[in-house]
Formats: sequence, structure tokens, C-alpha cells
Amino acid sequence: MAYNLLKGKKGIIFGALDEKSIAWRTALRCHEEGAQLVLTNAPVALRMGTINQLAEAVNAPVIGADVTSMDDLKKLFEESMKHFGGGIDFVLHSIGMSLNVRKNKHYTEIDYGFNQKTLDISAMSLHRVLRTAWDMDALNEGASVIALTYIAAQRVFPDYNEMADAKALLEGVARNFGYHYGVRKKVRINTISQSPTKTTAGSGVKGFDGFISYAEKMSPLGNASADQCADYCVTLFSDLTKMVTMQNLFHDGGFSFTGVTQAVIEQMEK
Ligand code: NAI
Repeated sequence: MAYNLLKGKKGIIFGALDEKSIAWRTALRCHEEGAQLVLTNAPVALRMGTINQLAEAVNAPVIGADVTSMDDLKKLFEESMKHFGGGIDFVLHSIGMSLNVRKNKHYTEIDYGFNQKTLDISAMSLHRVLRTAWDMDALNEGASVIALTYIAAQRVFPDYNEMADAKALLEGVARNFGYHYGVRKKVRINTISQSPTKTTAGSGVKGFDGFISYAEKMSPLGNASADQCADYCVTLFSDLTKMVTMQNLFHDGGFSFTGVTQAVIEQMEK
């Protein structure tokens, strides 16, 4: 059901790779709620071509940008503002990549060169995006920025590897830039800490299937889906949450505050 919550709003969505991507689901929901969109992803991801289906469905241009390149980001914001004929009301940062996970490097023996790249792509890229917008004064008063994160930033999930540190850094950037952009222009910056979700990035985590069913059993409401995450993003992009900023918001069916569940106890007794 659509509520017109984003009527007249203009947003940039980073990270729609395929139809399972959280960014893909969010783009569809934002479009349904009346937003105008620009889609972006790394040039290498665009070459896969699937994003064009989404672009058609939500009537949005696709502009390539590697989030580690300030030149790409500047071009993206310039072209987006030209397309919209003005400033931007919301941004979704839905980006994650771990080189050490890809190369099967254990946390205790990570390659530091890979690690720097991981932190740049998965965490400092939020700073780069915000800095670009800040320098160009690209965000409208009261705009809303969301980045996606995971609870491994607070608690240990051994197989999440270096991404745990990347997420902790990402959440720090959201808080700190949230302060400055709030003072300057009432811009809200939050992270959503999402349940494990079957996507390309999610499935890269070792033992993901066992892990997703464990989380399901450990959450009173069960795991939150990508579509439900998209719904939550819409509320945060809307005018109904204008005073929410610098928060890490758990969207996980209650997992983060559950000590144990009956379902897990029963499993242990088997
Ligand atoms: P996904 O694989 O569909 O999306 C990740 C995106 O990052 C891809 O579109 C990829 O092209 C993009 N990306 C990678 N390197 C890039 C670069 N240099 N420049 C621009 N874009 C780049 O997977 P998913 O799950 O939708 O991931 C979105 C976000 O949600 C990530 O931050 C992820 O860590 C987070 N998240 C995912 C969970 C899951 O279980 N799937 C749980 C909690 C958070």
C-alpha cells in the first residue's frame, strides 16, 4: 500500500545490484511513495546490466560512480542536481565489500592493503558522499541520509570478519557527520542495522545459511526482509521522522535485545 509519503522528494540510491539488493527493494518502494530517483552503482556493477530493469521500473537515470572516487561522486551529484533541477532530499548508502572475505583471509591474518580498501568502500565512502554533498551544498534543508549496517559492529560474529570493524566505522561517520550536517542544515543521518538478508553481499559471509536461521530463531518477530527494510527507509526519508538523527536503528525483529528464545533452548535440548 502506498501513502504518498515521498511525494515531490528527490533521492539518490546507491547499491542496487540485482532484485534481491536492499537498495533495489528500497528504490521500488520510494518510487511507489512518489519519489523521483537517480540510481547509482560502481561502473563494474553496471556492466552486469540488470540495473537497467530497475531504472525502467522506477523511471530513473543510472549514473555510474565508484564510491572511492571523489571525481565520480562530484559528477554524480552534479548530474543528479541537473536532472532534478535542484537539491536532493534523501540518499541511501547501501554499499558493502570486503576484500579479505573475498580472498578467504581469516580475521587474524588479514591483508592490510585489502583492509584499507574494505574500510574505504564500506565505511569511509559515507564520509566521501556526505563531504561531496557538503562542498556542493547539494542536500536540501531537512534532507535524510541512511546507511545500512549490521550488529557485528557492537557484538562479535566471528565470520563477519573485517566487515565488523568497517560497520563500526560507518556508524561512527553517521554520528559525527550527523552532528555537523544537523547544525548546518537540519540534515538527518542515521544507520539501519538490518537482519541477515539473502543478497549477494549477505551470502558472502561464511556459514550464512546456518546464521540466518539462527537469527530467525533468536528474533521474537523473526528476521526482517529486504522489503520490510525498504518500508523502514521510506519512513526515515519522509517528513514524519524529522527529529531522528545520529542514531543506529535496529531493524531486526528484536534480535538485538533478546538474550535467548524458547526456540533456541529447544534446539539446544535436542
Ligand atoms: P548487495 O550485494 O546487493 O549490495 C552491495 C552493493 O555495494 C552492490 O550493489 C555493489 O555493487 C556495491 N558496491 C561495492 N563496491 C562498490 C564501490 N566501490 N562503489 C559503489 N558501489 C559499490 O547486498 P545488500 O545485502 O543489499 O547490501 C547492502 C548493504 O546492506 C551493505 O552495506 C550491507 O553490508 C548491508 N547489510 C546487509 C545485510 C545482509 O545480510 N544482506 C545485513 C545487514 C546490513
